[in-house]
Amino acid sequence: MHFGVDYHPEQWVYPYGGTRERPEAVWERDVELMQTAGVNVVRMGEFTWGLCEREEGKFDFAWLKRVMDLLGKAGIKVVLATPTAAPPIWLAQKYPEILPVDERGLIKHEGTRRAICLNSDVFWNHSKLIVENMAKALGQHPQLIAWQIDNGLGGNFTEAAFNEDARREWHLWLEAKYETVERLNDLMGLRHWGQVVTSWNQVPMPMIAPAVHNPALVLDWNRFCSDTIVQFVKMQADLLHQLSPKCPVTTNLRPLLHRFDHFDVAEAIDFVSIESTAALKAKSAELACEIDMLRSLKKTDIRTPDGDTGFWVMEQKAGNVTWQDVNSLVRPGVLRMFTYQLVSRGATAIIFFRWRQPRFGTEKFHGAVLPHNARSTARVFKEVAQLGDELKLLAPSLKGTHVEAETCILYSHDNDWALQQPMQPNKFFSLREHIQLFYNALHDRNIAVDFARPTEDLSRYKLVFAPSLHLLSGGEADRLKLYVQNGGTLVATFNTGLVDEHNMAPDNGYPHDLTDLFGLEVLEFDQLPPGEENHLTFKGTFPASHMHPARLWCDLIEPRDCQVIATYAKDFYAGSPAMTLHTFGLGKAVYIGTQSHQHFYNDLVTWLRQMCNLHPLLKVPDNVEVSMREKEDAQIFFLLNHQSSPLRIQFYKPMHDFLTGNTFSGNYDLPPHGVLVLDEHPETKT
Ligand code: GAL
Repeated sequence: MHFGVDYHPEQWVYPYGGTRERPEAVWERDVELMQTAGVNVVRMGEFTWGLCEREEGKFDFAWLKRVMDLLGKAGIKVVLATPTAAPPIWLAQKYPEILPVDERGLIKHEGTRRAICLNSDVFWNHSKLIVENMAKALGQHPQLIAWQIDNGLGGNFTEAAFNEDARREWHLWLEAKYETVERLNDLMGLRHWGQVVTSWNQVPMPMIAPAVHNPALVLDWNRFCSDTIVQFVKMQADLLHQLSPKCPVTTNLRPLLHRFDHFDVAEAIDFVSIESTAALKAKSAELACEIDMLRSLKKTDIRTPDGDTGFWVMEQKAGNVTWQDVNSLVRPGVLRMFTYQLVSRGATAIIFFRWRQPRFGTEKFHGAVLPHNARSTARVFKEVAQLGDELKLLAPSLKGTHVEAETCILYSHDNDWALQQPMQPNKFFSLREHIQLFYNALHDRNIAVDFARPTEDLSRYKLVFAPSLHLLSGGEADRLKLYVQNGGTLVATFNTGLVDEHNMAPDNGYPHDLTDLFGLEVLEFDQLPPGEENHLTFKGTFPASHMHPARLWCDLIEPRDCQVIATYAKDFYAGSPAMTLHTFGLGKAVYIGTQSHQHFYNDLVTWLRQMCNLHPLLKVPDNVEVSMREKEDAQIFFLLNHQSSPLRIQFYKPMHDFLTGNTFSGNYDLPPHGVLVLDEHPETKT
């Protein structure tokens, strides 16, 4: 298992560290302290372009090599990041056309990271050159085990730029997709407001305009920008594979936050790396959801440096950040607990951002493993060092284990982008919040979840949730039907199948292409403002533990051959179906026409658990999160206490604790933010 830090040695040379005679002397002490903390890998290089190419074409990687040699003496491995996230100032000044133009037509200027238009040929060519030269200089270094491409792709709202280079590429992209201008006019619906075009170069980029742009055009623009990012990643991945074939490539991703298709990017790299904001969110289920989303981006063809099939955490925050209004300290034990949350959900490497607080720059007060004074007595250093020891102990048992989920939540970027546009039926609807309601119910019952695109093979899952697939292509609808036909259970909701892949509403009933699957048709959909509620009246065996409200959105459903599970309690559609169940082939299709409160989703999972024969991993009190990693002959359980007070756990079978070697049976009080890593005691294993 790899354990380490993000290291910025360039910031620790004289006069900021070292001496006039030995400007790099501080690196030696860094390496010593890293060894004390159990560090066996560092990531570095992501912002070094301006230092490695101070003048056009004059490359100097010798100083990076010196760092790698030094790390090598201590047996510490290296992940090198290509430095394209922060172009040098000379590049922008010499070729100002690389600077990004925003949606108002204003140039964003040089002097920070990400000041680039990714469609600029000049930027692209210079990126190739720096990557090529870096790979030639350092790609065979014995310490190097992986490459990180760029850093934080799409960050700082740089997924799109409206430069003339982008306009040119956009038109080529449209031509490749639609082939004729007539087809583009038809499929985009440009007749609306008479916005038809007669040539490719008339198609606008969706820059600020008096009214809202055509939604089909905006959706294509999102796809085009995403494809640009994916191509940029592929370009670098190809170069690195060619010049440094032993090292797999990755890039660090945040949970579906930036506007590019993360699944597509994951296809272009060998393994997924994530940036975790653990310890900053109040709710463990939100973090867990984001980790599961990112783990799910790549399920096959994974090539990590350690040969495992997990993901890497390239930036685990080692404490407070600097980008909130109030940047509180992370409480003792919380960093450790959230690091275990990442490991428990499949991480095979943990790298902390960052090794040491820099003395200058925008992030000088950002939390780090070491504070400005670099004392190894620092609180965070000690907590990280403890983790280093523990993960070393656990590594052999975790080797080869992975997370196996029987349930899945469907997500597609196309759908998300369609829903992010204005002029929705209800601006208070949020896809992320809707997903989280389902996720919380599964998480709190300790049922493992994957995420998947609707086009994936879903046959491995017993239960699939499809919250608000507003945009559903014909191919996706077919996949869902196949899944249910073959015995799967699908739960879909309101706001599904309202448009196809061209952002066009169907003329044969909602949900588009799925009325037969659910045995119903949605005739209209009513919208409720926040604070206003309808209610659900249940029939049959649904285990309603509370009075469940209907919020935000109420589908008016015409049942065909489905069974009605719940109806609305009031308004002109009182008594009409709000939730239904339909047997289709060998499987079942549940439809929920409204959004409710968390208790409803909890009851839903209780109901479905029985229907699908799903079992929680362990029986534990609320606020204890349980996850499991497994391999053929082993199941390793992780128990995390998210409360700041102890929680009593009752073990029905003796369990062996990897961290202490103890065996637990009967009652055990898990301390505040405490962690247990367990397997069944060998003597009782069945
Ligand atoms: C990340 C970024 C790092 C650093 C960090 C601060 O998104 O990759 O370079 O800025 O945020 O929290």
